[in-house]
Amino acid sequence: MATIKAAILGFGTVGQGIYHILNEKREELKNKLGIELEVAKILVTDASRERVPGTAHLMTTSMEEVLAESGMQVVFEAIVNEEPAYSYLKRAVEHKCHVITANKVMFAKRGLELQDLAKANGVFVGFEATTAGGVPVIKTMKNILLVNDVSRIQGVLNGTCNYILTKMRAEGWSFDTALKEAQSLGYAEADPYNDISGQDAFKKLMILSALAFGEQPDWADVDVIGIDSISASQVREACEKGLRYRHVAEVEKLTNGKIVAKVGPQLVDKEHPLYPVDDVFNAVALETNYIGTLTLVGPGAGMYPTASVMVEDYAEIIGKRAGFVVTI
Ligand code: NDP
Ligand code: HSE
Repeated sequence: MATIKAAILGFGTVGQGIYHILNEKREELKNKLGIELEVAKILVTDASRERVPGTAHLMTTSMEEVLAESGMQVVFEAIVNEEPAYSYLKRAVEHKCHVITANKVMFAKRGLELQDLAKANGVFVGFEATTAGGVPVIKTMKNILLVNDVSRIQGVLNGTCNYILTKMRAEGWSFDTALKEAQSLGYAEADPYNDISGQDAFKKLMILSALAFGEQPDWADVDVIGIDSISASQVREACEKGLRYRHVAEVEKLTNGKIVAKVGPQLVDKEHPLYPVDDVFNAVALETNYIGTLTLVGPGAGMYPTASVMVEDYAEIIGKRAGFVVTI
């Protein structure tokens, strides 16, 4: 049986999740895909620290070393920020590796460029994990867009914000306590600024806009408001009135073709579809011409939900390459 080699760039919450799932599902994936996958390199900033027992010999800080590994064909990317992530993936694609990323900061800005480059090099880019964690919104959109037009997208796209707002309301926790817990659960980024300022949801919304409409609005025209200014007393008062805060991202293509978007907290009542979406859950409602409104709900962050969709991307890519559809 053929063996292909993979690298994992970044070995924090998501990177370790990929490694665990690839090990746990090794036999099943091998049987379904007819290919053995070996994780041959793991790229981090500090290779002296073994995060998972038995991986010390795989660790490196050098992308040259990753690409020099013979038989390297798949690169999973779970590091943070636009650079060096984009440059690493560009090099991987030029090296004819398929790439699978969770990095929305990079992908919101450079995703179209990366996909064009991948096409020119005959490889695939998987990006399901960039948006809404374990919720399969990217593959669903790709599928429905074959026939439907999407006119509007509305959703809760940041698990950390939703978790914090839920815990403040339901448990009476302070903002800081809820944020600390979201960090310890692996939902919030190490630097949570993007989460709580709304920038993370904004980047995800821009990825969805590019997919739905083939373009994004001018970033400078989008109002982005976070949850950092919502106080415990505001949450309590809303609750007494039967309302809940949700951090909502929305983008719409107007009839004149202009794309407009906004991101910020909203108060919703119990009739609103986002009212019951609690904890780390995300929800994405897609308004389409033929289906009507389609809403997807599920865990928006965390090690296993996120890593599992990246491994699914891998299975789909390998299946496509071999010319078959992977089924269970
Ligand atoms: P972590 O902070 O847990 O891990 C980040 C990893 O990236 C670390 O291993 C770090 O190395 C490594 N890293 C950072 N910068 C570099 C660099 N310049 N070169 C090499 N390695 C680097 O982050 P997460 O796992 O939570 O997130 C990873 C990515 O996935 C992010 O882009 C995030 O937005 C995205 N994401 C996260 C989700 C989640 O639920 N956590 C869900 C969906 C997407 P070292 O260990 O040496 O510091
Ligand atoms: N920090 C992000 C969130 C991770 O809380 O939604 C998932 O992209």
